[in-house]
Amino acid sequence: MEPRLQRRVQRYGWDKAAEYYEASWKEQLRPAQDKLMEMAGLKPGENVLETACGTGLITFRAAKAVQPGGHVVATDLSDGMIQMAGKEAKKQNIDNVHFQRMDAEDLDLGNESFNAAICGLGVMYFPDPVQSMKEQFRVLKPGGRIVSAVWGERKKCGWADIFPIVDKRVASEVCPMFFQQGTGNTHEISMKEAGFTDIETERLSVKLYYPSDEVAVMAAFAGGPVALAYRKFDEETKQGAHEEYLESISGYQKNGGYEIPGEFVVSRGVKPID
Ligand SMILES: C[S@@+](CC[C@H](N)C(=O)[O-])C[C@H]1O[C@@H](n2cnc3c(N)ncnc32)[C@H](O)[C@@H]1O
Repeated sequence: MEPRLQRRVQRYGWDKAAEYYEASWKEQLRPAQDKLMEMAGLKPGENVLETACGTGLITFRAAKAVQPGGHVVATDLSDGMIQMAGKEAKKQNIDNVHFQRMDAEDLDLGNESFNAAICGLGVMYFPDPVQSMKEQFRVLKPGGRIVSAVWGERKKCGWADIFPIVDKRVASEVCPMFFQQGTGNTHEISMKEAGFTDIETERLSVKLYYPSDEVAVMAAFAGGPVALAYRKFDEETKQGAHEEYLESISGYQKNGGYEIPGEFVVSRGVKPID
């Protein structure tokens, strides 16, 4: 897919997904976010950049970890996500975070300004993951670290058929390279290509719980990256897509709901001190 089109699909798709996102994914993403926070080891007083911050699930944890004296700049391509996260920050009275709409591949930020750069479940959506890591490398101080979490291998993610099911009902692929970063050591290689050293990776096998057909369908279609395409389906197309998706996850039925396998890959690298 042409990069500009991919960015548009992502930007406006996540605008649509924002209101369903936490109900769909908050619990399911927690193991990856916990591991990311552990590997980032954020300390009081540090300045942190977050790319693809979404509704702020990791942002608010990072903001707390760097207090007192630290600050988080949290960025995302989607206005809907940035607005939702900003409202939540106000509600929670968190004043050491600045939210700004920004493409992870083109950061409007100065060189060598951050101690750490974090990105949770974002890189799969960027047209050029290495470019986003080069940008993070540029804005990190020497000795600063990057930590990024992505979904793992396709065959280890039981919900993966959502992409071909939606793709065959629209003109182009929604997320062409979704599983690329989480396959083999691609994520590490991307970090290396961007200049990072001392790279370490952890793979996590998880189970995603959904209590009913309805919740599983909502998470897959409305709360994630296919939301833009899905909104354009007529009722009959939606129904057909739901049935096909439920059939694809039918092997994971448990207690009236679903226990779907998933895998996360979390990698950490360091910007060398010349
Ligand atoms: C699965 S959400 C992750 C949100 C958050 N990091 C979390 O862990 O809950 C993916 C996010 O990536 C953002 N995104 C997609 N493409 C992007 C890009 N090129 N630059 C910045 N953010 C992007 C989307 O808008 C969306 O908010």
